[in-house]
Amino acid sequence: MSVTPHLVAQQQRQVLIKILKNIPMKILVTGALGQIGSELVAALKKTYGEKNIITSDVRDSAPGEEFLPYETLNVLDKSRLAEIVKKHDIKVIYHLAAILSAAGEKNPNLCWDVNMTGLHNVLEVARELDIKQIICPSSIAVFGPETPRDNTPQETIILPKTMYGLTKAAGELLCEYYVAKFGIDVRGIRYPGLISHKTLPGGGTTDYAVEIFYEAIKKKSYTCFLSADTTLPMMYMPDAIRGTIQLAETDFSKLKNHSNFNFAGVSFSCAEIAAEITKHIPDFKIDYVPDFRQKIADSWPRSIDDSSSREQWGWKVEYDLKKMTEDMLVNLRKKLT
Ligand SMILES: NC(=O)c1ccc[n+]([C@@H]2O[C@H](COP(=O)([O-])OP(=O)(O)OC[C@H]3O[C@@H](n4cnc5c(N)ncnc54)[C@H](O)[C@@H]3O)[C@@H](O)[C@H]2O)c1
Repeated sequence: MSVTPHLVAQQQRQVLIKILKNIPMKILVTGALGQIGSELVAALKKTYGEKNIITSDVRDSAPGEEFLPYETLNVLDKSRLAEIVKKHDIKVIYHLAAILSAAGEKNPNLCWDVNMTGLHNVLEVARELDIKQIICPSSIAVFGPETPRDNTPQETIILPKTMYGLTKAAGELLCEYYVAKFGIDVRGIRYPGLISHKTLPGGGTTDYAVEIFYEAIKKKSYTCFLSADTTLPMMYMPDAIRGTIQLAETDFSKLKNHSNFNFAGVSFSCAEIAAEITKHIPDFKIDYVPDFRQKIADSWPRSIDDSSSREQWGWKVEYDLKKMTEDMLVNLRKKLT
């Protein structure tokens, strides 16, 4: 068999995965009790071993057993972060602690502090304490109304109008700075709106696409805070988790980009997801009462060009609207009835 560059790259990736799996690299997850963390932690534990994943969040209420070992951590407290990193000999940080778009518009100062100072603290601790890798999510909120809205390219006009969006855009640049200046391995995906059944979302503009399932099962009706024809890029959580770990495991030398990967799942309007739910719950009714989040949604893309993710680290989406809707309803019915 001839040795192609593709085969060599695949072998390198396998070696990296082996290193990550066999050497007990301790991983810290910040903001671990949120929508993504609560599912990512389980996947990381499964992949790298129960004891190697340390979870943390600003909340000090005792989390369930699946989050142990757990440390209370406000990411604004840099010395506490450093203490946890030393205590557990942390080598990788998944930095999920953040204030999201709608919550950020209600409290822009807190959003700036948590998203900027929190990230800076993580990057500084990484530099000072020899952290091997940082995974730091970005968002489609980096885009603004001047950005092309369909098939939005990765490199394009980045003029966000929300506090959340501008912290994510500046955060991407800060991450790139630490890659270029200090040689730290920092990576990040621009997540679209994420849909999941385990933990409710924490105050984003795309939260309607989760709430609609809960209300459809509980009340067979939903009042949507966006208009019927609002189309946004979305993704089902199993795809997001799989993609995140896939990016983390990619050989660093293969990446031309680091902190700003476009990441596409499925795009649909509010009316389209309602119609899909109606196929399973025929008497489901929806009405539309747009609020302040409509303006945020109108400044975001309708669909995303994620060719860089597909080319550089092999991203491929699995869930379309139909498959996601079926899975959400099956899992939420188990949870709610
Ligand atoms: N969920 C989405 O649809 C989505 C979309 C795009 C990007 N993202 C990004 O993914 C990351 C995780 O998002 P999520 O959906 O899990 O958010 P979330 O709001 O559900 O969870 C965030 C967690 O951070 C914690 N937190 C808040 N302030 C903190 C602080 N000062 N110190 C420590 N922890 C603090 C919260 O308690 C919460 O558990 C964020 O960076 C977010 O911007 C999420």
